[in-house]
Amino acid sequence: MTAPLNVWDYERLAEERLGPGAWSYFAGGADDERTLRWNVEAYGRWQLRPRILCDVARVSTETTVLGTEVALPVLVAPVAFQRVAHPDGEAATARAAASAGTVMCLSTIATATPADVAAAAPGAPRWFQLYVFKDWGLTSALVQQAADAGYSALVLTADTPYLGRREGPLRTGFAIPDDVRIPAVDTARGGGLQPFSLHEHFDLFSPAVSWRDVERLTDLSGLPVVVKGVLTAEDARLACEHGAAAIAVSNHGGRQLDGVPGTLDALPEVVEAVEGRVEVYLDGGIRRGTDVAKALALGARATLAGRAVLWGLAVGGEEGARHVLELLRDEIRLALSLLGCTSPAEIRREHVAPAP
Ligand SMILES: Cc1cc2nc3c(=O)[nH]c(=O)nc-3n(C[C@H](O)[C@H](O)[C@H](O)COP(=O)(O)O)c2cc1C
Repeated sequence: MTAPLNVWDYERLAEERLGPGAWSYFAGGADDERTLRWNVEAYGRWQLRPRILCDVARVSTETTVLGTEVALPVLVAPVAFQRVAHPDGEAATARAAASAGTVMCLSTIATATPADVAAAAPGAPRWFQLYVFKDWGLTSALVQQAADAGYSALVLTADTPYLGRREGPLRTGFAIPDDVRIPAVDTARGGGLQPFSLHEHFDLFSPAVSWRDVERLTDLSGLPVVVKGVLTAEDARLACEHGAAAIAVSNHGGRQLDGVPGTLDALPEVVEAVEGRVEVYLDGGIRRGTDVAKALALGARATLAGRAVLWGLAVGGEEGARHVLELLRDEIRLALSLLGCTSPAEIRREHVAPAP
């Protein structure tokens, strides 16, 4: 194949590189994978309404998230176990995000410590994704590590009290290789043997996590808390009432409750319920700059890309992940220009309409 031209090319190459086991883990979704498909298909149900003759000689893709400047409205979503995809793992993704000028979200179940990933890209903006442990002492120690290492927001993943049933990895028998360590999990187990299955990792996390924890984590860390996994107007209102600094409309890339809407379909009701009180982000199915444009038109401040960046990492390490972010940035710039917008802030609801 010629050099990858878009995210889909990276996806095909990543499938070859990763082999059936790792591919089943990274690519798969829950149950019948309906939500996984809807995440992508939802973008096809909206059309763009461009405006012409708008002087787009100068177009910027820059915006801000929680006051942090980013070069494009795409952040790097938290994705677990990145050293399974490439030996350089999260450190490579962090360097890629830094050179592309965006925020990297580090997963709790990363294969490197928050400090190591921070050291790989010093000075770059970074957020820490949190799964709350059953043991609050472990949770607060990890939050402290993240705060000490300069992570400037906590992303509380709220859609995973239990792990969704993902049959792909069950069929392939995928397991994390023994030589890939997960520092937070090793600590939680007192340095014991690595748990065998993904479900055993999740046994460490608390299914009792609740709205109260949003306030608790804000108080504990002094950091803004982004609630990730909101899909309804009801929960969007609760997130605002409980002091969330931002909301991420997400269904965990179709990996949790199968049958929930594609995220672009859930976005409008969340945006309406929030009434501008907090920033709303969206992840799920972002593969093209025009996907990002549609999410912004429907009220997202920014998007996060999970698999797209992971495919870049799997194929080409830091360079591959950076190339994916650059491709998305260039596609967003072109989409903005052809819509008649000179910046993300100029995209409005009028720039999209439901496909007939
Ligand atoms: C392989 C994989 C691992 C993930 N690990 C995490 C995680 O550790 N924490 C988390 O909050 N979300 C995790 N997610 C969900 C992503 O943050 C994000 O919501 C999702 O990937 C967005 O959909 P996309 O992959 O279509 O961009 C993971 C997703 C994938 C595909």
